[in-house]
Amino acid sequence: MPDGGLRKRKTGPDSEKEPPRNENKVSHNDEPEFDIDSAAFLQYLKILWIPLLLCFGLFVYFNPSTLSDIANLWIESDDWQSSPGSSTKSFAGFGADVEKRDAVVEAFKHAWRAYERDAMGNDEYHPISHKGTNLTRAGGIGYTVIDSIDTMLIMGLEDDYARARKWVETSLSFDRDAEFNTFETTIRVLGGLLSAYELTGKDKLYLDRAIELADRILPAFDTPSGLPLPNINLGKRQGVPDKELPHLVSTAEVSTLQLEFRYLSYLTDEDVYWEKAESVMKTIKEHRMPHGLASIYMHVDTGQFVPSAIRLGSRGDSYYEYLLKQYIQTNQTEDVYRKMYDDAMAAVHDNLIQKSHYTRMTYTSELIPERNSGGQLSWRLTPKQDHLVCFFGGSLMLGATITGASTIPVSIPPRQSEFMDHGKRDWKDGVELVRTCVDTHDTLTGLSPEIVHFRIPSDGVIDVFSNSGVPTDWYIKGARPGAEGPYDARYILRPETVESLFLAFRLTGDIRYRDWGWNIFQSIEEHCKVETGGYASIMNVDEVPSRKEDKMETFLMSETLKYLFLLFEDASVLPLDKYVFNTEAHPLPIFTPNIRTGFS
Ligand SMILES: *[C@@H]1O[C@H](CO)[C@@H](O)[C@H](O)[C@H]1NC(C)=O
Ligand SMILES: *[C@@H]1O[C@H](CO)[C@@H](O)[C@H](O)[C@H]1NC(C)=O
Repeated sequence: MPDGGLRKRKTGPDSEKEPPRNENKVSHNDEPEFDIDSAAFLQYLKILWIPLLLCFGLFVYFNPSTLSDIANLWIESDDWQSSPGSSTKSFAGFGADVEKRDAVVEAFKHAWRAYERDAMGNDEYHPISHKGTNLTRAGGIGYTVIDSIDTMLIMGLEDDYARARKWVETSLSFDRDAEFNTFETTIRVLGGLLSAYELTGKDKLYLDRAIELADRILPAFDTPSGLPLPNINLGKRQGVPDKELPHLVSTAEVSTLQLEFRYLSYLTDEDVYWEKAESVMKTIKEHRMPHGLASIYMHVDTGQFVPSAIRLGSRGDSYYEYLLKQYIQTNQTEDVYRKMYDDAMAAVHDNLIQKSHYTRMTYTSELIPERNSGGQLSWRLTPKQDHLVCFFGGSLMLGATITGASTIPVSIPPRQSEFMDHGKRDWKDGVELVRTCVDTHDTLTGLSPEIVHFRIPSDGVIDVFSNSGVPTDWYIKGARPGAEGPYDARYILRPETVESLFLAFRLTGDIRYRDWGWNIFQSIEEHCKVETGGYASIMNVDEVPSRKEDKMETFLMSETLKYLFLLFEDASVLPLDKYVFNTEAHPLPIFTPNIRTGFS
């Protein structure tokens, strides 16, 4: 339940088509945007500024160097805004923060042991009803177990690990006559098996299972364009189109299988995995849209982009992530991925990155296609940012140190002079986007919502608040004080912000990234923890006590808690110059390939 006076924003218009106009003031006033104390404070400032200015004038008169000092400071901080690169003052060093790291291990045990007690071997876990379920009626495919194994290995939980391995050895089966999502199965299960293989020092059990699973998935790629179908019947070894959109595939889904299939190819010396994954990238490059961005759907027969939303959120996100990571994974030997990544980042910067109206927060918009009566296509900019986009701040920072750097490796933290122009641009955007994602945790629970909207002048909302002096730059659409939270208001244990914090910390050593991560961890402990075991999604980040939903997503154990652990762990564990994380946070080693990508 929102309180009366402290919160400055959060609720907003129900529909962007019908933004509240000034006559809607009343509905916004039920959540006061401005409290008496700050009004009085502003008044006070108005009276004080004249004598303050006089004092300052006198001070500068007697200390003439002050002005130029201030000017320099300003230029430094504005130009290289909040970039740790310009200062090492808050450098934390790279040792472990043992206490915080161990608190994250305790959280993992709380999650895993409840799952093991109630639902071992089931694909999904429901911590409130203490039940497990499977993705299909044909039986489980180790969705949760395999997704969690590498986290246990990294955390050193030997006994838990031994039981999980035993389950893989004796109970795991992929011979399931049912449809599974090609992308999800690849990133969670294939990715998890490959990481387990790597981190156990090559326990063959995992490689054998990975080969079996990949061979069952391969038929999904048998389409005219080579773009894989969204579903795969693992038992029948058959690709299956989407029921509602039979000719379409999602861009992020087809372009987020490459790290896994390439690494398997490297391990087995079987070119087929490499070639199938590579042909997707070739198709995407051939059908590049004029602005260099990628819309979220492609046509599975022609391989062309289909006019549909363009965004860094759902169905778009990991396309951009894997452009960079394919270049990193192949030890920076495949220039075609660097070019594709740089091309896409320039387009993202020019078209999607925005500044919010009041406080100049950096955020990303979506482009929605529209046809006018003459059938002409145009794109409408929509200030909507999914929580999923929060991977992007850290990813931009990482990319700046690789494709945007003039010397590799860059220092930690990087120096301005080590970046080329586009590297400076991406680093700055990245630092600011991380900051924005942290700011979206400014809710009653300290957790960020699934989707935020930023205010733009044309939504009519800005006018309502512009006299108050209180910045109100983002809100949860459709949220109303006291009402049931809309879908956008949920937090489902997602990892993207802490993923970016982990990367940002490793690249800078700046302690504030650990501080922010610790705040988020404490909020998860306070609002998502189920006393009897496990963690649950919550329905509304602006409601305390939280209302929980009976679901613990597998990415809590594979991603959220792993990235938090690594944020507080010694930086020599899984260093970024030796490993690349797949989009489900499964670390895979960087290698120099013996196959060359056959297009450029
Ligand atoms: C899910 O599948 C596993 C087999 O892997 C089975 O043991 C379990 O009973 C299934 N769960 C349900 C709820 O049917
Ligand atoms: C990556 O390339 C560099 C430079 O060629 C080389 O020194 C290094 O050993 C390579 N790393 C791996 C893991 O192959």
